[in-house]
Amino acid sequence: ARLVVLVSGSGTNLQALLDAIAERGPDAYGARIVAVGADRDGIAGLERAERAGLPTFVRRVGDHDTRDAWDRALAEATAAYEPDLVVSAGFMKIVGKEFLSRFGGRFVNTHPALLPSFPGAHGVRDALAYGVKVTGCTVHFVDDGVDTGPIIAQGVVEVRETDDESALHERIKEVERRLLVDTVGRLARHGYRIEGRKVILGHD
Ligand code: GRF
Repeated sequence: ARLVVLVSGSGTNLQALLDAIAERGPDAYGARIVAVGADRDGIAGLERAERAGLPTFVRRVGDHDTRDAWDRALAEATAAYEPDLVVSAGFMKIVGKEFLSRFGGRFVNTHPALLPSFPGAHGVRDALAYGVKVTGCTVHFVDDGVDTGPIIAQGVVEVRETDDESALHERIKEVERRLLVDTVGRLARHGYRIEGRKVILGHD
């Protein structure tokens, strides 16, 4: 499968995918990354892509007259690489109708909380503030809501008394990176179907 990965920050989830594909080989893993897109310049995620010799593209909201124009530009830039799956790995923008009409059903996001709890841009902070004893991460298909699409896989992380947001987020990311690599590989190798809110993964 051809993957386009979208990033907005440090790109450690992207790096985990790059490392897994390099280690296992794209055929065994079932996918290769063909391009990396971002909503901003100057982020480590783009440096990681460039270091891996991958094409990159940046589409900044501020460069477009309307949000819809940005959404269309992002969709067109992504479509140019003919992806089978698009992976949002810390991509911090909500895509719109155009992007979803083209990639809905094959657009996956990773979120650092156990959805439906704590959606949105501060899932780790919100879980910590709420006082939960366990949190975790979720890989899900993106729909027209915010972190509301059908759930594919989840991982659990214990919250410690000593945790602050960054310590907890780092520990979540250790689980999240493995979950994303495992989930994307399975989707790519074995296929899947979405029935309402349920995701049925294919098997060997
Ligand atoms: C990840 O935890 C992702 O779930 C959240 O932001 C973080 C991005 O980390 N939205 P990285 O850019 O992959 O290192």
